[in-house]
Amino acid sequence: MEKGKKAIVMSGIRSTGFLHLGNYFGAIRNYVRMQEEYECYFMVADIHSLTTHPDTKELRQNVHRVLAENIACGLDPEKVALYCQSHIYETAELYMYMNMLAYKGELEKTVTFKEKVRLHPENVNAGLLTYPVLQAADILLHRATLVPVGKDQEQHLEMSRNFANRFNHRYGEVFPEPFAFNFGEELIKVPSLDGAGKMSKSENQYATLYLSDDDELIRKKVMKAKTDSGPTEPFSVKPEYIENIFNLMRLVSAAEVLAKFEADYDNCIIRYGDMKKQLAEDMVAFIRPVRERAEAIRNDHAYLERIMEMGAEKARESARKTMDLVRTAMGLKYY
Ligand code: TRP
Repeated sequence: MEKGKKAIVMSGIRSTGFLHLGNYFGAIRNYVRMQEEYECYFMVADIHSLTTHPDTKELRQNVHRVLAENIACGLDPEKVALYCQSHIYETAELYMYMNMLAYKGELEKTVTFKEKVRLHPENVNAGLLTYPVLQAADILLHRATLVPVGKDQEQHLEMSRNFANRFNHRYGEVFPEPFAFNFGEELIKVPSLDGAGKMSKSENQYATLYLSDDDELIRKKVMKAKTDSGPTEPFSVKPEYIENIFNLMRLVSAAEVLAKFEADYDNCIIRYGDMKKQLAEDMVAFIRPVRERAEAIRNDHAYLERIMEMGAEKARESARKTMDLVRTAMGLKYY
């Protein structure tokens, strides 16, 4: 790395579905921290979303919502390049060159591809097969080395490293290897409200708190969380679904509040109804300002247009530099 130059962070944000508390604590909060220390590129993966043939009438709305929600969570379009994948044409060019270095066999073995084939055997298109190649292009386009992603993306990152190395061996050194990066800490998992697993887009909607949920819905979801009649022995071990409620409280409630309920639990005088009421109010206080900010941004089309163009301009500048190196290395310059 050049001296004095900041390390480059790149990540893609899916443009489908609503953001939930798991996305916030697991990912976005990390992005917000990274924007202070690194040169950051955060991209809405709208081209990737086409692999599953969505109704394209919804694209604009989805993209606006994802941008608004991320900004509402603290991502600063002045500090990072926040842009849409489809606005950077260089991505498509690099993707095409990388496709010559990606083998059918390895693409077919990708876990996410096999899962898609299993779920949608009627739509096994080439874009789906080469999804990891497009993802590699997203990352390598900025010669990023740090990629904040969850465990489910490890295989895609390993493939990105392979494509980068193959390019370097065949044509000459252009790309550094990208690695998953989350400040060296275990990613926070936000437990689901139904007592098992974590909050996620695809599973039980009622067990997941979305950043767009209104106050009443938040209260309703929290009050439905699974509890029991409480411990009968002092200092009992908590069953998982109770531990989950404490863990949720750890994320949004004040330390004294948490300490009170911990003590009540240990003394067998805990009232889960009261605990859930408290948690519900703390969740409302946490989510409401984010929801309101996101809503205001979503309705400000002039602002969204401005930040998209600003983000695209920053991303293009970096992309142009890389593509110049790429074309030169590949011998595609004939004059
Ligand atoms: N595949 C990623 C996901 O499903 C999204 C993504 C697209 C991405 N391009 C990327 C992540 C580049 C990191 C880097 O979440």
